[in-house]
Amino acid sequence: MSKVIELNHPLVKHKLTQIRKKETNTNTFRQIVNELSTILAYEATKDLEVTDIEIETPLVKTFQPELSGENIAVVPIIRAGLGMVEGFTNLIPNAKIGHIGLYRDEETKQPIEYFLKLPNDIENREVFIVDPMLATGGSAIAAIDTIKKYTQKPIKLVDIVACPEGIEAVQKAHPDVDIITATIDEKLNDDKYILPGLGDAGDRLFGTL
Ligand code: PRP
Ligand code: URA
Repeated sequence: MSKVIELNHPLVKHKLTQIRKKETNTNTFRQIVNELSTILAYEATKDLEVTDIEIETPLVKTFQPELSGENIAVVPIIRAGLGMVEGFTNLIPNAKIGHIGLYRDEETKQPIEYFLKLPNDIENREVFIVDPMLATGGSAIAAIDTIKKYTQKPIKLVDIVACPEGIEAVQKAHPDVDIITATIDEKLNDDKYILPGLGDAGDRLFGTL
């Protein structure tokens, strides 16, 4: 079974509280999502392989670790996942970025795919799918289904707010995909929104409330 990692850190908790507040404006919301995404990128990449290479410091020759491949793709689920890309590229500037467009049908809550553009060498890249919200899990499962058609490399799912229902659904559909999230909230409401959550992440990021 995959790993589920929930960040447990006072800075993360504080930042989450700021984006949960309904009065937090778009500018601040976007800034904090960016900050949290950098922290998540740090955590999500902690298993990347390094190889020792020989270098010379001003004092001696020494073997020191360097990333083995840097073969990474970050794939935001549009729209809200776009807000997490910069947080990743702050730490991994050479990552290639793919895009997958999915929205939840308002009635059925089922994901509808409307856009796909992946790096053409995706099959060589470890993939980090980013989306602030993991609610029913439908969007994440659909994104993973699609990406697995193009690569057999490891895929990780990185969220800001997840909930038990979404985690269970993703683990059932894709037991090989690790989930890294800033928080695991309580539950879904009847309208399939996460409680306490932060509302509609896309609307809050892009000011379309
Ligand atoms: C939100 C969110 C996820 C999805 C999560 O996107 O960004 O992609 O809902 O819900 P699920 O786990 O039940 O699928 P939304 O469909 O609202 O589209 P948007 O990002 O364009 O606003
Ligand atoms: N999508 C969101 O943006 N927020 C939720 O709480 C659930 C799905």
